[in-house]
Amino acid sequence: MMEYHTAIRGAFFDIVAVADSADDIARHARYLEDGVLFLRDGRIEALLPWQEGEQYLHPLKGYRDLRGKLLMPGFVDAHVHYPQTEMIGAFGEQLLEWLTTYTFPVESQFADAAYAAEIAQFFISQLLSHGTTTALVFCTLHPESVDSLFSEALRLNMRLLAGKVMMDRHAPDYLSESAEQSYRQTRELIQRWHQRGRLGYAITPRFAPTSTPELLAAVQKLRDEFPDTWLHTHLSENLNEVAWVKSLWPEHEHYLGVYHHYGLTGERSVFAHGIHLADAEWQCLHDTGSAVAFCPTSNLFLGSGLFRLPTCWQKRVRLGIGSDVGAGTTFSMLRTLGEAYKVSQLQSYRLRASEAFYHATLGGARALRLEDKIGNFQPGKEADFVAIDPAVTPLQRLRSGRCKDIYEQLFVLMTLGDERNISETWVNGERVWGDAAP
Ligand code: GUN
Ligand code: ZN
Repeated sequence: MMEYHTAIRGAFFDIVAVADSADDIARHARYLEDGVLFLRDGRIEALLPWQEGEQYLHPLKGYRDLRGKLLMPGFVDAHVHYPQTEMIGAFGEQLLEWLTTYTFPVESQFADAAYAAEIAQFFISQLLSHGTTTALVFCTLHPESVDSLFSEALRLNMRLLAGKVMMDRHAPDYLSESAEQSYRQTRELIQRWHQRGRLGYAITPRFAPTSTPELLAAVQKLRDEFPDTWLHTHLSENLNEVAWVKSLWPEHEHYLGVYHHYGLTGERSVFAHGIHLADAEWQCLHDTGSAVAFCPTSNLFLGSGLFRLPTCWQKRVRLGIGSDVGAGTTFSMLRTLGEAYKVSQLQSYRLRASEAFYHATLGGARALRLEDKIGNFQPGKEADFVAIDPAVTPLQRLRSGRCKDIYEQLFVLMTLGDERNISETWVNGERVWGDAAP
């Protein structure tokens, strides 16, 4: 007898185990053209082919019939800034000018708790309507910005990681703090939010240029005090930024060396971008078990450069995919994967659909050290998933009718797909987004 609350029938795709190579991913891919998923207490009880699973259906409970939809694990956005939602598409600048011209003024508004709450709710609804169920999120300097985001994520029982931005130099006065204040406020927020529900706290120094040695020492102290928190920052995104770091921290061999010196590398450390890394930096990322977030739409939009996915594999560094909104230009992981493919093409690397969807699901979960909790439909995993309609536009209907197998279907989805294809989003075994009646 199978114990379950909800059963869902449809087509299913996931990657059943973590992988060491793109070929390994392809070997671990699972596709059930007609399957049934059983949910119990917010978790996956079982995923079975319909023929095998039908016998376990309780005659009075029935099942939710999503045939025609493709069910996949919820997407993991490994790097995103919720306060920048309203400034997507800011024209004309590269990173450092973009920050001072557009970003800092927008972020200053989050001192207002009511404003922060409004944007936090909008942001979370964007994540869910785009099929993203877990994200690692930058807030702003203001504790109110963190309270607003975590409150909304807690209400929906999401697995979400976030933290207050820490910065104490090279920022406008209205967006600056002392290292001491940054330490104290971060500490309070960790105590208030870390491990509450499915939330996790990410200690979030913005990047080396906006940090004094005192600030990074405060971050190190917090890491020592709360070793199971996450560390989230930016690394080697833009060449002017890299040169600036060199001039501010001449005693360190390279950019990552600054963070490493303060003990900020390691498990649960996630570095956004990592475009212009030296060999020694890749090695350090690998040796410390740190992860990088590849943010293709942002890297192209800000003209930052091309992330070296083949090198990342070669150096065996954990990888997630980030939207990096608002330098990134979409919340859609489908569109983001499509751009990742193009970035890889420019380096003669063929990003297959199985690999792309791995990075957006189980691989992203692994980058965040959450692979034992989310990322596929294995029994016991938390039931965060999406139902995708592969053909919602005339062009998609025409093109998907020509697909010979699931891989071509998935590849077309990451080429033509976006939030219109997300039919339903489920979090913790509950449907939290979707047009149709539950
Ligand atoms: N580096 C430091 N701050 C930021 C930011 O807000 N966005 C991006 N893309 N890079 C950064
Ligand atoms: Zn960023």
